[in-house]
Amino acid sequence: MYVIAGVSGNTGSIVANALLDQGKKVRVLVRDAKKGEPWKARGAEVAVASIDDEAALTKALEGATGAYLLSPPDTASKDFVAERHVVLERVARAVTKSKIGHVVFLSSVGAQHAQGTGPIRTLHDAEEQLAKTPAKTTFVRAAYFLENWGAVLPATAHGKLPTFLPPDLSVPMVATKDIGLVAAKALLEPPSGKSEIIELAGPRDYTSRELATILTKVVGKPVEVDAAPLAAVVPTFESFGISTNVAGLFHEMYAGIASGLVAAEGKGARFVRGSVDAESTFRALGAGK
Ligand SMILES: NC(=O)c1ccc[n+]([C@@H]2O[C@H](COP(=O)([O-])OP(=O)(O)OC[C@H]3O[C@@H](n4cnc5c(N)ncnc54)[C@H](OP(=O)(O)O)[C@@H]3O)[C@@H](O)[C@H]2O)c1
Repeated sequence: MYVIAGVSGNTGSIVANALLDQGKKVRVLVRDAKKGEPWKARGAEVAVASIDDEAALTKALEGATGAYLLSPPDTASKDFVAERHVVLERVARAVTKSKIGHVVFLSSVGAQHAQGTGPIRTLHDAEEQLAKTPAKTTFVRAAYFLENWGAVLPATAHGKLPTFLPPDLSVPMVATKDIGLVAAKALLEPPSGKSEIIELAGPRDYTSRELATILTKVVGKPVEVDAAPLAAVVPTFESFGISTNVAGLFHEMYAGIASGLVAAEGKGARFVRGSVDAESTFRALGAGK
């Protein structure tokens, strides 16, 4: 039995489907029982729990061989790093109390650093806390999601690809389908020792300018990079209703990507490349339709 969190989201749905397709027993973790219905119809058990509810999460993890866990976004937080620390303490205690043997946790490239990485700081914290539990751990340190571009794809109708990344910086990026498939495989193949780190990128790295060229082909008209300065990160994110605290963390993350801090650790980690490229991800996100 494998417990899968985030099944209404990008990666959890892929993990759960991949395991069910292989005939494995799956228990999905949802906050709202209604979101469990389609999974029940597919033969999965449903556990209703929020990751910050230690007792419910402990119960949901009990008796399982492994679990896929993530730290979901909280764009309204007034102090995301401190608040998430408290939630992650509860998650770690639930992992310990449940006696589950293996946790595959969705982390991020750059999670080896405690500071200077914005929201990725909380994933460093998560890795530290989960490492202290008795469970085996696989940390899937995913690269920048290709799906992040979905938010700005509408601008391609006006020939623009807005970005806070330096236009000619080559950045590892990965599709969430690749993350889900790698996580599902990791659940079935726990580390032989206490822990493993998988650093995961897509089939190739991309500059934003290269992505604009790919989008030119996909949408059938010229698309150019529209690079915004880092000073624009906070007001832009705030304009989307994101709290000032979380917007500030994203500023730190983009600065960390530009400086090279948010990058793979290499040493001690297994580097994996997925197979889903930017063009197919953009088409799946509806670009050009
Ligand atoms: N974006 C990037 O470039 C990047 C790179 C590396 C790592 N990451 C990591 O990836 C994470 C997002 O993963 P994703 O895209 O697969 O997720 P997602 O699509 O953002 O969905 C989040 C999932 O978590 C569930 N969830 C939210 N709050 C919860 C709670 N309190 N308890 C239990 N479940 C809860 C949601 O379920 P509901 O239906 O209940 O809301 C949803 O299924 C980020 O938070 C970050 O840690 C992101």
